[in-house]
Amino acid sequence: MREELKTERLLLRPLEKADAERLARLANNWNVARMLARMPYPYSLDIAEDWIGRQKSLREEGGEFAYAVTNDEGLIGGCGLQSHADGTHEIGYWIGEPYWNRGFASEAARAVLDEASARFGAETIIAGHQADNHASGRVLTKLGFRYTGEEHRWSVARQEKMRCLTMRLARREVAA
Ligand SMILES: CC(C)(COP(=O)(O)OP(=O)(O)OC[C@H]1O[C@@H](n2cnc3c(N)ncnc32)[C@H](O)[C@@H]1OP(=O)(O)O)[C@@H](O)C(=O)NCCC(=O)NCCS
Repeated sequence: MREELKTERLLLRPLEKADAERLARLANNWNVARMLARMPYPYSLDIAEDWIGRQKSLREEGGEFAYAVTNDEGLIGGCGLQSHADGTHEIGYWIGEPYWNRGFASEAARAVLDEASARFGAETIIAGHQADNHASGRVLTKLGFRYTGEEHRWSVARQEKMRCLTMRLARREVAA
C-alpha cells in the first residue's frame, strides 16, 4: 500500500505522534467505539500513543495498514486494511462524530479500496458492519460491496459479541 493517498478533500497518511491528542479526543466517543470491533472505550491518550507507536511494525509485518484520515483541521478519522490468513483483506474505517454525514467515510474508503484493489485484486477485498450500523451499510453498498452472510464478532468496547453482516466487493461494480 502507498504511504499517502490523496483525494479531493482528504489526505490519508500514516499516523504520527502529533495525531495522538485529536485521535484520543475523537475516538473517545461511545457512538464511534460501539460500532467497531477493536476500538477500546474509554479511549485515553495512552491508548492513542500506544496505537500510533505500533503502526510501523504493523505495516512492515504486512498485517495491517491504518491510514490517518486528515483534512485541513488535522486528523478526522481512520481508514485501514487488515490482511487475513485466508488471503482476504478487510477494509475498516471510522470518522469523528463532528465530521459525520459529509461524505468523508465514503471518500476515504474509496481511496483505500482503489489502492487495495490495485495491489491485492478486487476479489480479495471484504468488509463487514454491525447489523444496526445503517450508515456504514450505506457507505459500503455505495462502494460496490454486497452482502454475503453474517457472523458474531466480539466488540472490545461493548464487551459482548455483536451480530455482524459480512460483505464482499461485487466485481462488476469495480470494473465500472
Ligand atoms: C459509519 C461512518 C464511518 C460514516 O461516516 P460518514 O463520513 O458520516 O459517512 P458518509 O457521509 O460518507 O456516508 C454516510 C451515508 O450513510 C447515510 N446515513 C447516515 N446515517 C444513517 C442512518 N442512521 N441510517 C441510514 N443511512 C444513514 C448518509 O445519508 C450517507 O449516505 P448518502 O451518501 O447516500 O447520503 C461514521 O458514522 C462512523 O465513524 N461511525 C462509527 C464507526 C463506524 O461505524 N465505522 C464503520 C464500522 S463497519
